[in-house]
Amino acid sequence: MNAPVRYLTGITTSGTPHLGNYVGAMRPTVQASRKPGTENFYFLADYHALIKCDEPARIQRSTLEIACCWLAAGLDPDHVTFYRQSDIPEIPELTWLLTCVTGKGLLNRAHAYKAQVDKNTAAGVDVDSDVTAGLFMYPVLMAADILMFKAHFVPVGRDQVQHIEMARDMAASFNHLYGEHLVLPAAQVDDAVALLPGLDGRKMSKSYDNVIALFGPREQMRKQIFSIVTDSRAPGEPKETEGSALFQIFQAFASAEETAALRQAFADGIAWADAKQRVFDRIDAEIAPMRERYQHFITHPAEVEAILQAGAAKARERSRPLMAELRAAVGLRNLSTQAAGAPADKPRAAPPSFKQYRETDGKFYFKLLDGQGRLLLVSAGFESPREAGQRVAALKAAPDAADLAGLALAAGVAPDDVRAALRELTPA
Ligand code: TRP
Repeated sequence: MNAPVRYLTGITTSGTPHLGNYVGAMRPTVQASRKPGTENFYFLADYHALIKCDEPARIQRSTLEIACCWLAAGLDPDHVTFYRQSDIPEIPELTWLLTCVTGKGLLNRAHAYKAQVDKNTAAGVDVDSDVTAGLFMYPVLMAADILMFKAHFVPVGRDQVQHIEMARDMAASFNHLYGEHLVLPAAQVDDAVALLPGLDGRKMSKSYDNVIALFGPREQMRKQIFSIVTDSRAPGEPKETEGSALFQIFQAFASAEETAALRQAFADGIAWADAKQRVFDRIDAEIAPMRERYQHFITHPAEVEAILQAGAAKARERSRPLMAELRAAVGLRNLSTQAAGAPADKPRAAPPSFKQYRETDGKFYFKLLDGQGRLLLVSAGFESPREAGQRVAALKAAPDAADLAGLALAAGVAPDDVRAALRELTPA
């Protein structure tokens, strides 16, 4: 049998799950976990929750609610590894090792941090106002989550793709320095997974206060579905499916035939109230059995705790040995292994380097050498050292888009060799 493909994803425990979370995150992870040949790691990202929430009771409640939702939605803890991030002490430990191989410049570019900086700039306050080091370090903690379990694929929403790319960069930096220990992960964005609109037609989100509660009372769900905004067309008048939040929400639960039937009903002028009843009935058919399981778990938190403890034990069977390997790799080692004649670490190749110099023609030049000191290219002459320096900086800044015009490549050196060398020099 082929080695299993590993999937991993987490949910931040800072809120109460709504129907959008179910459709966008929980349902797909439960379905994916049943695929043969896969190993699945699903976890409650409670360390991440501390970044945006300083209410202890809310963190605890949200952790319980999200765990119960996942279990109610059908996640089988015997079949997947289901755990709470803060039960795995190796995760913060790996976070530190990654912190030490991550350029500050890489983190400066993270969307979540940049968004706050831009907001501060627009408001004319200090750029780092309201920015904790936790927010800044968010991508490193997330990389540790992913790399710890050697995930191949990380199913996430589009907004998280940059974080997975950063995790990849960190793994590559670590491997470059210390050997091939970490697996480079890739984001998996599933366009078939519905982005659910909320009651007002905007994306369903707690921050818009437009959500449908997931496992609240049945009657509450009915009320919320009846409050979905529609237009004022009267019964008998044909209705538009295009742009209808009600229709889109239905679609996220319905088969192709059911969707076609509702489309026809819209064309035939179904009354909004009847349409809403149909949407409610369809969603409730899927949710009702889960609602019961949810009620069971939420009233038996000790059972949930035991499930998470068992999950943590299973997860640590992976994280402990990997962390031991990584500690040894970076030199956090038992001193008694430093016996006389202990093999030294393999010398590692030096990075490529730029050398700037002045020629007898009075002009300023640079050349690029690889790690073995082999010449890769020589520049044309510049009038000032500043111009030469700017060109070097531009090359380092964008290796893949590097403009090689005016640069003389050495014999046998291809543009791709130059780009590979530049990539090694790009500030992480
Ligand atoms: N940052 C993710 C979110 O807010 C949650 C998360 C934390 C995560 N660690 C992760 C997702 C690791 C995937 C993999 O949605």
